[in-house]
Amino acid sequence: MTDTNFDIIVYGATSFVGQIITRYMHEQFSGGSIKWAIAGRSQTKLQQVSDDAGLSGIEMIVADASDEAALLAMCEQTTVVMSTVGPYALYGDTLVQVCAASGTHYCDLTGEPQWIRKMQLRHEATAKQSGARIVHCCGFDSIPSDMGVHFLQRQAIRQFGQACDRIDMRVAKIKGGASGGTIASMINMVKEAVADADLHRELKDPYSLCPAGHGYSAQQNDVKIEYDSEYDSWIAPFIMAAINTRVVHRSNALSGNSYGTQFKYEEAMATGKGGRGKRMALATGWGMGALMVGLAVPPIRWLLETKILPKPGDGPSPAEQLNGEYNLVFLGTTPGGDRVRCRVTGDRDPGYGSTAKMLAQAAACLAKDVPADVAGGFWTPATILGDALIDRLQADAGLCFQLEPC
Ligand SMILES: NC(=O)c1ccc[n+]([C@@H]2O[C@H](COP(=O)([O-])OP(=O)(O)OC[C@H]3O[C@@H](n4cnc5c(N)ncnc54)[C@H](OP(=O)(O)O)[C@@H]3O)[C@@H](O)[C@H]2O)c1
Repeated sequence: MTDTNFDIIVYGATSFVGQIITRYMHEQFSGGSIKWAIAGRSQTKLQQVSDDAGLSGIEMIVADASDEAALLAMCEQTTVVMSTVGPYALYGDTLVQVCAASGTHYCDLTGEPQWIRKMQLRHEATAKQSGARIVHCCGFDSIPSDMGVHFLQRQAIRQFGQACDRIDMRVAKIKGGASGGTIASMINMVKEAVADADLHRELKDPYSLCPAGHGYSAQQNDVKIEYDSEYDSWIAPFIMAAINTRVVHRSNALSGNSYGTQFKYEEAMATGKGGRGKRMALATGWGMGALMVGLAVPPIRWLLETKILPKPGDGPSPAEQLNGEYNLVFLGTTPGGDRVRCRVTGDRDPGYGSTAKMLAQAAACLAKDVPADVAGGFWTPATILGDALIDRLQADAGLCFQLEPC
């Protein structure tokens, strides 16, 4: 990579989450530790974002997501591009292609496994050749899950000399709303899956993001509504598990099976004990099922899309972001039967306030902390950013990783 003007370009600075990122970057990095700029498809909107965030003299780069030449001109000016231009399956292809070809490092907030797999298949060889390090899923999906497992496994190895072959993550608390951009990504994924039987099958494969020939065959559990005696709570399926579990399994594969070839990972919402916990679990499970069925049926999808769910550009209010939080518990068991447990918490709402800080710190880590000899290719947060990212998240992004007694 040759010398560039910027360490990081925030592409999609005008998005709901991009505006939060821009304000956070200003707070964190305006002292000069990181040279950064904002980018998007509209100069007028970028100027508005800059004015709203109180930035003066920030450089602005205009590039439409379909304009390859403009994206290349942008990439040539920076070490890292972080992108919030989504749904990525609709607008993200060309930027990943250009980053892979030009050796520009890249990170994003996608949670769309079908698109990630398409990008890996198309561009991994080019990225390996150019040295571009591509890191998807740097928001609430999937940093807390991927880094939480990494943190717990490191402790298991230190304490018991072996990694856990099973980890269950339980969402103890989650408070925050969804934005129109996230809903648009979910709707697009359901539309694609309904139209394509192969994709539908692929979305059910927990190892779909692992490299070809991974050889994993451990049957992963399907979370049901049931009482989890280990965690002492009723549990229900967790909507983000679909992407998080795949990222965690890819981390295992990319780290030379450091979690073992029989590693099992599951995520669930914990809804509490007794009758109330059971009712909450039933409501969570049925609510999620109803949403998925609704999104798959065109007239109901139309109703949800146009009348009920938030539109692109909408999202939780500043007060909801500030008052949001999450609290995740990871329970691990080694093949020898030893147990280890940790908790990952975050301030702010998971999808926006916290996600903005996680993506910004992931980009900073990619620009500044990853050793020069690390190869190009499609990495996961845990495998390329590892402990350096945990340090950044704890120091400046409101996350806390803590071991607990079992
Ligand atoms: N992983 C997570 O935890 C997480 C959390 C939050 C969001 N997300 C994802 O992040 C993405 C952004 O979410 P959001 O709610 O902030 O979305 P949003 O407000 O709807 O913003 C979409 C962005 O894409 C830009 N865009 C659309 N078409 C473009 C094109 N042709 N060229 C250049 N830019 C284009 C828009 O630019 P204009 O402003 O000019 O229209 C806008 O900046 C979504 O994919 C969402 O699913 C993930």
